[in-house]
Amino acid sequence: MASNEELFRKIIAHAKEYGFVFPSSEIYDGLSAVYDYGPFGVELKNNIKEYWWKSMVQYHENIVGLDAAIFMHPAVWKASGHVDAFNDPMIDNKDSKKRYRADVLVEDFILKLEDKIEKEAEKAAKRFGDTFDGKMFRETNPRVLENLQKIQEIKQRFYPALERNDLADVKLLIEELGIVCPISGSRNWTEVRQFNLMFSTQMGSVNEDANTIFLRPETAQGIFVNFLNVQKSARMKIPFGIAQIGKAFRNEIVARQFLFRMREFEQMEMQYFVRPGEEMKWYSYWKDERMKWHLSLGIPAEKYRFHDHDKLAHYANAAADIEFEFPIGFKEIEGIHSRTNFDLGAHQEYSGKKMQYFDQELDERYVPYVVETSIGLDRTFLAVLSNAYREEKLDDGSERVVLGIPARLAPIKVAILPLIKKDGLPEKARELMDTLKYDYRCFYEEKDTIGRRYRRMDALGTPYCLTVDHQTLKDDTVTIRDRDTMKQERIRITDVSIVLREKVAK
Ligand code: GAP
Repeated sequence: MASNEELFRKIIAHAKEYGFVFPSSEIYDGLSAVYDYGPFGVELKNNIKEYWWKSMVQYHENIVGLDAAIFMHPAVWKASGHVDAFNDPMIDNKDSKKRYRADVLVEDFILKLEDKIEKEAEKAAKRFGDTFDGKMFRETNPRVLENLQKIQEIKQRFYPALERNDLADVKLLIEELGIVCPISGSRNWTEVRQFNLMFSTQMGSVNEDANTIFLRPETAQGIFVNFLNVQKSARMKIPFGIAQIGKAFRNEIVARQFLFRMREFEQMEMQYFVRPGEEMKWYSYWKDERMKWHLSLGIPAEKYRFHDHDKLAHYANAAADIEFEFPIGFKEIEGIHSRTNFDLGAHQEYSGKKMQYFDQELDERYVPYVVETSIGLDRTFLAVLSNAYREEKLDDGSERVVLGIPARLAPIKVAILPLIKKDGLPEKARELMDTLKYDYRCFYEEKDTIGRRYRRMDALGTPYCLTVDHQTLKDDTVTIRDRDTMKQERIRITDVSIVLREKVAK
């Protein structure tokens, strides 16, 4: 089995070779942390979007959609706090000249201590066998207690220092913990500085009247500023949600890791407007719902976990990440945030326009509280892709790479393949393609041996192949091949549509 790093490299190479994801502007050596989706990538991405949109908007009567512009009035970002607070603390290593997020360095250090505790417990469990009491071990073992104490101390110092924006103390902590640069191995650090993550550009033709505007770093603000437009025009009653899918832009400091951390990416966000005081109830509700959604993608539960935040964003009173086990480890794929009435309240203040809702049941006017679910589309794409990637040794000694993408998300649902390129088989296969292409994303191919074409479809994640052979011409039947089992059965052409409908809904 490949190491995780090797596996990650293979997935990236596969994504390029099979037309899922290309580096942006590749002929000019690429643009860091920006990617283009190829012919099969765009299909998979659209299917994920549609699946999310249906589960949020179509299946919930009280959630409606929106598609707000990327450009917004600059005051939006002042009110939202992004101009002043959407920063990452960064630090450079003077020897390697590499730049790091200071908070990530410290959090990685904490993770290492947590790892040590886990390893200690695993070792003891092996030693004591059935009689091992994990809870008691963690409460009494001196080495575990020492590490727990250390974690506690770091957190108690680190998060308040960030909160106070005491960057000198953050640097001191990094030095005291002896954190070294992973590249140079040295502790030769610069000061910690705040770095705003928003991209800006000029709007207007003449320099003098041009306004600096920002590329939105989250889609959520488009929803907040339209809160009353949507509520009134769609006659929504609290609790209700507004959902949106769109591009967001962040000038990430450490932008590596393929689709995981990009400078231009897509978010699928939903803001749920609730009565003040009811936000924690809805926060737990959406945590549960969103985890169920992830599991419904057919990805095993052990690949997911929650991470409740210690350090909260400037707008939140509770926040949790759903983390997915990418080949680069467990990392955030979605955030669920209780954003209080921070955003609507701030827009009310900055714009001078009321952002209130009149609750008829309570006979009361208030600024609603908001619970947000915010999932990265590109990270979800990466999760689906990396969960699907398999290398298999077959009984005949050959190997295949297969993407086990759930049929409902697969870029191509069915391939239509004439066994050979003559004897009227291509014409018959085209006829079949014409009957199916309005309902399913189909793919027709007649080049290469049938075995090679099956392998290519496996590598693209196509769940079914229909093969038209000489028997088809005699009795109007075709074979249907299942990507995962590689088994084939013969079915009547007149049944193909019904069989596919049942299989592709999976
Ligand atoms: N409106 C709330 C918000 O934007 P966030 O936790 O900063 O919250 C939400 O982002 C999600 O957007 C993340 O869980 C992640 O999936 C995705 N995301 C954030 N930054 C990203 C990046 N640089 N590249 C790819 N996806 C990113």
